[in-house]
Amino acid sequence: MSFINDFNTEKIRKKNICIVGAGHVGLVTAACFSHMGHKVICVDNDKKKIASLNKLKIPFYEPELESLVKDSYKKKNLIFSSSLREGVKKSEIIFIAVGTPPQPDGSADLTSIEKVAIDIAKNINSYKLIVEKSTVPVQTGQKIKETINRYRAKCNRINFDIASNPEFLREGKAVNDFFFPERIVIGVETPRAEKILKELYMPIKTHIIVTDISTAELIKHACNSFLAMKISFINAIARICDLTGADVKKVAEAMGMDSRIGKKFLNAGVGYGGFCFPKDLEAFIYIARKLGYEFELLKAVKEINESQKTYFVEKIKRHLWILKGKNIGILGLSFKPNTDDMRFAPSIDIIDLFLQERATVSVYDPYAMKEAQRLFKGKKNILFGKDIYNTAKNCDCLCFLTEWEEFLEINFKRMKRIMRYPLIADGRNMFNKDLLEKEGFTYIGIGR
Ligand code: UGA
Repeated sequence: MSFINDFNTEKIRKKNICIVGAGHVGLVTAACFSHMGHKVICVDNDKKKIASLNKLKIPFYEPELESLVKDSYKKKNLIFSSSLREGVKKSEIIFIAVGTPPQPDGSADLTSIEKVAIDIAKNINSYKLIVEKSTVPVQTGQKIKETINRYRAKCNRINFDIASNPEFLREGKAVNDFFFPERIVIGVETPRAEKILKELYMPIKTHIIVTDISTAELIKHACNSFLAMKISFINAIARICDLTGADVKKVAEAMGMDSRIGKKFLNAGVGYGGFCFPKDLEAFIYIARKLGYEFELLKAVKEINESQKTYFVEKIKRHLWILKGKNIGILGLSFKPNTDDMRFAPSIDIIDLFLQERATVSVYDPYAMKEAQRLFKGKKNILFGKDIYNTAKNCDCLCFLTEWEEFLEINFKRMKRIMRYPLIADGRNMFNKDLLEKEGFTYIGIGR
């Protein structure tokens, strides 16, 4: 499959690019730039990961990624290395896409970013454009610049630029989002940096927004927090719907028809998860406070999201009365469909709540079983289902926590025969409530 049919590849001026970090953002960016014909070296300090990438084993599931990596690797447009020195020396553009994990106080841990900046400083041999791709707190660009200036040899007067090019890729749709983005944001300080980045993204037909570095960094915070806010808003409305007998799906549908509101990200459910929203929100609340602003709105967004999981379990408990000794089936473990990523997935907290109540939980996910087995290793009362029906067998309640498409194909007549008690808890509001009730199920949704 080619994503560049529309582009005149001849016109693309081939660049030497280093991507630091072979995680979700880094690997996708490396695969996509190399697919455009650039020479890309993807560097990671995890030697095991690099060895396995060199065997063309992709460390996570992302649609289209494997075929792009294999193709570019064969064409020698993409290489993997654990030497940042090699990456820096060989490239003009360096994208930093290393992890910025959350710390206990909510701030992002920028140790890896600093380390990369120091290594770049030590190996800078010609002009470099250093681009932040990881989601970083506003003003990190400035810190990277100061670090490089501090650590490079005193006599080294080689010029470099810093830029910010925040990532808006969604997991599960990352490759598609790279080639067909709704906008590209570049934060730069010099015309040279602007020219290089505009040229790099020239084949992608979209709006390019050029700003200063702090604005670009802030755009990323603002986007993720706004999307999280939309989800928590509709979840709060769902709670009021439950109290009044109103239907949140209809409320969201009507709200979404107002183009000022928009229909996306108004699906009520067990809340958002993943490695982006929860951690980015925490980090933004932390930075805002450090800058002198208490972002109360975002604190409420976070609290609503947390409480959705307890609320969901409480709703089930109200039906089943005692959870101890009950069999609970969980379908869908990843934080959203089309990924095996379980980081901060609502399923983790929900499963824990059931286990605390001493229920037995059987779990199944089309892609995340390996990850689930790793995460829940050694926990008692948790069974790993072979498939949907095997998981549901003898259950007193079947919970849907991720809206995988294959769950829509479920034969509910068969399901009713194999469950001990026909209770469906639809944590993503994905099923037709009336149809399930007609089949004889008791249906619990969120706000309907
Ligand atoms: C998110 C953003 O959507 C991307 O633009 C951004 O680049 C990325 O974070 C990042 O910062 O790297 P992602 O975490 O892959 O992308 O997932 P989303 O599709 O945004 O979903 C996040 C969570 O919100 C999921 O758990 C999903 O189930 C939940 N969600 C989404 C809802 O509960 N309701 C909705 O209406 C939409």
